[in-house]
Amino acid sequence: MGSNITIDVVLGLSWGDEGKGKVTKALLEEGEYTHCLRFNGGGNAGHTVYHNGVKIVTHLVPAGVFYGVPSIVGPGCVVNIRKFFEEIKMLKDHGIDTTQVFIAENAHIVSEQHVEEDSKDTLIGTTKSGNGPAYRDKYARSGKRAKDYKILQSFLINMHEEFYKSTTPSKILMEGAQGFNLDIDHGDYPFVTSSHCSTAGALLAGFAPQCIRHVWGVAKVYDTYVGTLDFQPDDPDLKTVQQVGKEFGATTGRVRKCNWLNIPKLLHSMEVNGVTHLVLNKFDILRDVGVWKVILADNTIGEFETENDFINFLFRELPPDIIVYRSYSPETL
Ligand code: IMP
Ligand code: MG
Repeated sequence: MGSNITIDVVLGLSWGDEGKGKVTKALLEEGEYTHCLRFNGGGNAGHTVYHNGVKIVTHLVPAGVFYGVPSIVGPGCVVNIRKFFEEIKMLKDHGIDTTQVFIAENAHIVSEQHVEEDSKDTLIGTTKSGNGPAYRDKYARSGKRAKDYKILQSFLINMHEEFYKSTTPSKILMEGAQGFNLDIDHGDYPFVTSSHCSTAGALLAGFAPQCIRHVWGVAKVYDTYVGTLDFQPDDPDLKTVQQVGKEFGATTGRVRKCNWLNIPKLLHSMEVNGVTHLVLNKFDILRDVGVWKVILADNTIGEFETENDFINFLFRELPPDIIVYRSYSPETL
């Protein structure tokens, strides 16, 4: 069962903004995938991709669109129809072929009312994209789905037919949005997003666990978070990290709060999501700042003299079978 389907997942291990878009791009460039699928979230996400040297930020359409790979907005996503068509237009204006973009027919819709309601949020510090209200209505069974809208008919895809009734093998790159610490069940509720930002969330798109081959977990070498939680301690080095790392949101332009990499949380995230490959991004920023610190158990701070000391520490902490990549900002892997 499921042997005709192979899945690689790209997942944020932290609070979003880890650099998932870059990893997705690098994997897609290897050219082996038959499909690319976004499995959670909606317009709250901002995926930054450098395409032919041009910076493009997408919010909903999976990055497969840049490589002519059939790209599916999955059933766990929520779609703002107006924003979706704006994004299709933006991509076309960049000369990108959008004829292979699909929306799962059971994906839910973000209405203008949802956006209006979310725009009043002050508690969570949402991206005001209408996600929370859209997922609420989905679970209250009063939501609308993509297949309810005529205007979306030409984009609709039936996932089961596409993947289980096909005789040709599928190899799917599944892109997560946000990160595990924003997961509705595993994050610091209620300071979370309203979807499943986990490997389990990828399976909810309608796949058997056996289909998963690799799980690419992405984190930065320091943590960032956007929202109302207190997150950034009073440490002048973190202010420097924020500036040097240009930590401003891709979707909302808000300043990202910074902290040192939380090792226990990272390990937790890797365990629960079955990470096989870890990409640690933005090494260049801590190198430029010249400070190597982490958060250890009981919120104590560990500090290293050099990058090498930091790396050696990491290899002692991480499970031995994980493949680790050191990555830099913005475009190289
Ligand atoms: P919502 O997903 O817009 O409801 O926002 C809920 C929380 O998730 C807020 O703290 C947002 O800042 C955060 N969030 C949502 N999407 C992203 C993202 O793509 N990157 C970083 N934070 C995000
Ligand atoms: Mg992002």
